[in-house]
Amino acid sequence: MDTPALSRRDLLKVSLLGAAAVALPRHRGPSAGGSPRLAASKLPPPYTVPFSAPPVLRPTVSDATTDYYRITQTPFVGEVLPGVATPLWGYNGMVPGPTIKARQGRQTVVRQVNQLPATHPTLGYVPWTSTHLHGMPAKPQFDGYASDVSQPGQWKDYEYPNTGAARTLWYHDHGVHHTAENVYMGLAAQYHLTDPQEESLPIPKGRYDLPLILSDVSFAEDGSLLWDDHFHTGVFGDVVLVNGRPWPTLPVEQRRYRFRVLNASVSRAYTLELSTGQPMQLIATDGGLMAAPQSVTRLRVGMAERYEVVLDFTSLGTGATVQLLNTGVPGTPDGEGTDKVMQFEVTGPATSTEGNEVPAVLGSPAAMAVSPASARVTRTLRLDRTRGLWTINGETWDDVVASGFTRVFADPAVGDVEIWEVANGFRGWSHPLHTHLVDFQVLSRNGAPPPAQELGPKDTVYVGDGEVVRLLVQFGPEHGRYMIHCHNTAHEDHDMMVQYQVGQTDAACDPINAAPPRSGPETPLGGPG
Ligand code: C2O
Ligand code: CU
Ligand code: CU
Repeated sequence: MDTPALSRRDLLKVSLLGAAAVALPRHRGPSAGGSPRLAASKLPPPYTVPFSAPPVLRPTVSDATTDYYRITQTPFVGEVLPGVATPLWGYNGMVPGPTIKARQGRQTVVRQVNQLPATHPTLGYVPWTSTHLHGMPAKPQFDGYASDVSQPGQWKDYEYPNTGAARTLWYHDHGVHHTAENVYMGLAAQYHLTDPQEESLPIPKGRYDLPLILSDVSFAEDGSLLWDDHFHTGVFGDVVLVNGRPWPTLPVEQRRYRFRVLNASVSRAYTLELSTGQPMQLIATDGGLMAAPQSVTRLRVGMAERYEVVLDFTSLGTGATVQLLNTGVPGTPDGEGTDKVMQFEVTGPATSTEGNEVPAVLGSPAAMAVSPASARVTRTLRLDRTRGLWTINGETWDDVVASGFTRVFADPAVGDVEIWEVANGFRGWSHPLHTHLVDFQVLSRNGAPPPAQELGPKDTVYVGDGEVVRLLVQFGPEHGRYMIHCHNTAHEDHDMMVQYQVGQTDAACDPINAAPPRSGPETPLGGPG
């Protein structure tokens, strides 16, 4: 179990949840699994809602080296379905949250202010949060360590070095035991890092470069989100949202577009295909640009994975429509509407032909240059279910907590290279495994070379039922303790997460004590702390 304080809160959660069904007013949060569903007639027909992309956040202050942002985690009532009010939690009161843009070499500081209510209105838990920027080698105390939580009313400044290669990252909640609920309520957003290499490429940019943040939700009769994690196995909705909109349509010109696909679902993996059967040009994976583009007609996107694809609408006639479909993934239950994602509708000739290419050479990802011959050791991570919990090598985050946060699965030195063999032994479940801090190379999948979509740098790898995937990882540049976990966040919360240590952990990089959250009035951003 947790520390005694957390255990008491979890008991509280159970009793409040019991009371919620009778005592709490409607329209306050996601309903428990038993509530009646919203009538299908209240859902918009697919492809009738206009596409939209989250706004780009402006810094509050900038100085010579750093851009400072302030984000509040706030409850609000949104209109996800036309004419239906849905209580949500959002970064700056929007779902998904605003996109942050950063450039290699300039630092970012993001102040996260937890303005969530003291308890979740229907599920009853305390919404402590920890914000993780997934894909950024942040120091441990700024990495969204699950147990480094900010309680409602507290705030914390997260520092990001932006030292890596250009890529699509995302920031999302990582609060221990409640990541899935908090992300389902809306605490997720993209973060785009650019660098001179990416800027020099003639690939689609600006208004032709759009986020596609996928999530799936269900609605209760009163319009609130329906929550059912099926005894911590998974949360599966029947409505697919793209950037928070149900099955939207995007008007496109006769040219190429770049889409930054992110699967922000709690438990649903997708296989994306175009209705025309046209190929997609894959240009980047989790860790940024691939060495060369890969042409794929089907793209499997596990939870937390990012893939950048270029779609070409050049040869389609004005008025033509193309649907982006989800043909599903074995072991993932299909919902009523989960076979559809979104639609593109061709408006006519391109108004600009700038950045309309996919060059044969893209990037030179560092993780892909590591040689397997330099690996010092091979370690195995067995993904399993033991004693009613999801486990990694039989262990859980509670084992880490019980050790005073000292227990580690591995302890490589900075610069070391290792092979990690990830084996999914549990029949019937898939696990997208994520390692914090590092990008890795997929060496093999079930003994065979990785598929085309895994030929780029990765930080999350989908491990299907019974699969064995080998990863090549070089550790650094930071040192200290970092999490490894399943990114089906219902599994992660119960309790499929362990940690590893790179180099030494000292007081200056203790994930919980080096930069604790603060209470009370905020200090000026960018000013003396
Ligand atoms: Cu995207 Cu540890 O998470
Ligand atoms: Cu991460
Ligand atoms: Cu899992």
